[in-house]
Amino acid sequence: MTESIPIALITGASRGLGLVIARVLAARGYGLVIGGRDTEALAAAEGELSREAQAVVPVAGDITDARVRLKLIDSARALGGLNVLVNNASELGTIGPLMAFDVPQMGRLFPVNVGAPTILMQLAAPLLSLRRGLIVNITSDAATAAYPGWGPYGATKAALELLTRTLAAELREQHVSAVLVDPGDMLSRMHQQAFPGEDISNRPLPDVTRPFWNWLFDQDPQVIRGQRFAAQQEDARWLQLA
Ligand SMILES: NC(=O)c1ccc[n+]([C@@H]2O[C@H](COP(=O)([O-])OP(=O)(O)OC[C@H]3O[C@@H](n4cnc5c(N)ncnc54)[C@H](OP(=O)(O)O)[C@@H]3O)[C@@H](O)[C@H]2O)c1
Repeated sequence: MTESIPIALITGASRGLGLVIARVLAARGYGLVIGGRDTEALAAAEGELSREAQAVVPVAGDITDARVRLKLIDSARALGGLNVLVNNASELGTIGPLMAFDVPQMGRLFPVNVGAPTILMQLAAPLLSLRRGLIVNITSDAATAAYPGWGPYGATKAALELLTRTLAAELREQHVSAVLVDPGDMLSRMHQQAFPGEDISNRPLPDVTRPFWNWLFDQDPQVIRGQRFAAQQEDARWLQLA
């Protein structure tokens, strides 16, 4: 349908960081497939993004649902292909000390934060290969910093980091690249969930990461493959060594 334009698929684009990334890509001429569970929020995002984007296809549903993942990929294919996959949707789970941990506390964390993004990478790889595309997986400083209380969530992001690097190595011959981005602390619904009842208004809005995204999407994916970036550390050219 729109073979000549670049296409991006962004999970969790109904609000927060995902919506900011979608806005950046819309302004850069991309057609968009956007995901999220809340149909009203997704429709609002679609309405806003449609004013600038070449095309916007909302796909409502939980990324742990295989049908939703297929629909996300099929929607990109119907638009003409895929240049960028952003695995942004994520859940926080229960924040609390590991000494009080019980197995059910893992709950949905690994399926949502690790399993679904991994399958989306698998499904997207053939389309990305055709356009020498880029996978962007959103991580967190909790993947490396061992913050008390943040263990299970941090463990999912650490797992995602390793799988991303592994896949970047495995898909090299297919010309599919993958990078990790730690967006840094931002005022969002997820961040407020981590600090219930606390005033977190001193955190920057996800818009603070816009300069990073514009820089990232200017890069040749093959050159940056396998790297980890910190979206709020412009002075270091965003690159973070693992
Ligand atoms: N905020 C921070 O300080 C911070 C710091 C480091 C890393 N991060 C990372 O940044 C990313 C974005 O977080 P955010 O702060 O922007 O959070 P947010 O405002 O809560 O947005 C999360 C987005 O993901 C969607 N989502 C969540 N679970 C989903 C699921 N199972 N299926 C489909 N969509 C789902 C949400 O929509 P629905 O709820 O409608 O589904 C929403 O669009 C996450 O990967 C997070 O781990 C955030």
